[in-house]
Amino acid sequence: MEDLQKLENGIISGIAAQDTLTGLEDLRVAEVGKKGHVSLLMRELGKMTAEEKKEFGPKLNGLKTRIMKEIAARKDELEAQELNRRLQSERIDITLPSPSENSGSIHPITQVMDEVAEIFTELGFSIAEGPEIEEDFYNFTALNIPPHHPARQMHDTFYFPEDEAGNRKLLRTHTSPVQIRTMMSGPPPYRIIVPGRTYRCDSDATHTPMFHQVEALVIDKDIHMGHLKWCIEEFCRKFFDLNDVKIRFRPSYFPFTEPSAEVDIGCAFKDGEILIGEGDDWLEIMGCGMVNPRVLENVGLDPDEYQGFAFGMGLDRIAMLKWGIPDLRDFFAADLRWLKHYGFAALDIPSLSTQKSGGRSPRDRGSSSSPKGGRPPINKNSGSK
Ligand code: PHE
Repeated sequence: MEDLQKLENGIISGIAAQDTLTGLEDLRVAEVGKKGHVSLLMRELGKMTAEEKKEFGPKLNGLKTRIMKEIAARKDELEAQELNRRLQSERIDITLPSPSENSGSIHPITQVMDEVAEIFTELGFSIAEGPEIEEDFYNFTALNIPPHHPARQMHDTFYFPEDEAGNRKLLRTHTSPVQIRTMMSGPPPYRIIVPGRTYRCDSDATHTPMFHQVEALVIDKDIHMGHLKWCIEEFCRKFFDLNDVKIRFRPSYFPFTEPSAEVDIGCAFKDGEILIGEGDDWLEIMGCGMVNPRVLENVGLDPDEYQGFAFGMGLDRIAMLKWGIPDLRDFFAADLRWLKHYGFAALDIPSLSTQKSGGRSPRDRGSSSSPKGGRPPINKNSGSK
């Protein structure tokens, strides 16, 4: 029998020298595994006399136990080291200093959408959405604009190629199809707003091929034009932060509302600037009306039981008005200088609820400091986009 003390010392220093878990496991198998060194020694006990067994049996057992203990301790050490190494290398240092200048900003359209949503949700509206790639049925037919109706020409529609069945999808030309989708998805009453992107083949200083609208739809029993008028006035008062905002309803025509009106907001054109709430001029901001009974019939509602109103407002337009932004095309030019000037810092969003307590007022970023020299090219009554 070899010198057990020497053997033990050798194995113990071998264990301490292992610096990987796999190396340690190999050593365990080689020393105390089934066919390991120590196990082989134990087998030799069988050949010994009873006297020798008495002496070597407990010695070998003790040796094995100590080695196993030593291996377990080294294993714990190596595992802890491995965990520490991972914690170090996978650590996210949230104490890194932020860049000295905040580079991102909230786009004025996003800001307007948030403000519009805030005002209408406070009035009890919920927010609905619909697809931008729309079917003819929802965008036109169900809204009482049948094929070959002249009103289709007003919309400068972007069409997709025909499918095998001869149907052409289109980019929605307004948010009104979501009126139909909402009414077909469940029973009344409805009180929704629909902010979103809309598309028409049109481009100049006040029209871009993609623009934004917010639709409103209210359907219930006994809804009348007074409700429509109040809602719009209340919205303008809150959005433009003016108590005595002047609103004018001009008779108009939309196939899906009857009667229909366009809404103008009172303003002054002074030194190339538009001032809301002053003067004797007017600017169109939306189309509206009582939902046409034929639209209600198209979605299976009884117009004698349910009525309501709808309106569609150009979000880009009201953003231009509120912050004196002169050219609509700049909204979508992705010019960082423009965004820096007109965007809102992410942590400084002038929410309507905070505006009165020190937030930015609408004309703080007036067109006089605009990159285009402050000449707002918005024409009076130039379309509901
Ligand atoms: N959809 C109309 C447009 O885009 C606006 C509108 C909506 C008018 C709802 C009346 C009612 O011009």
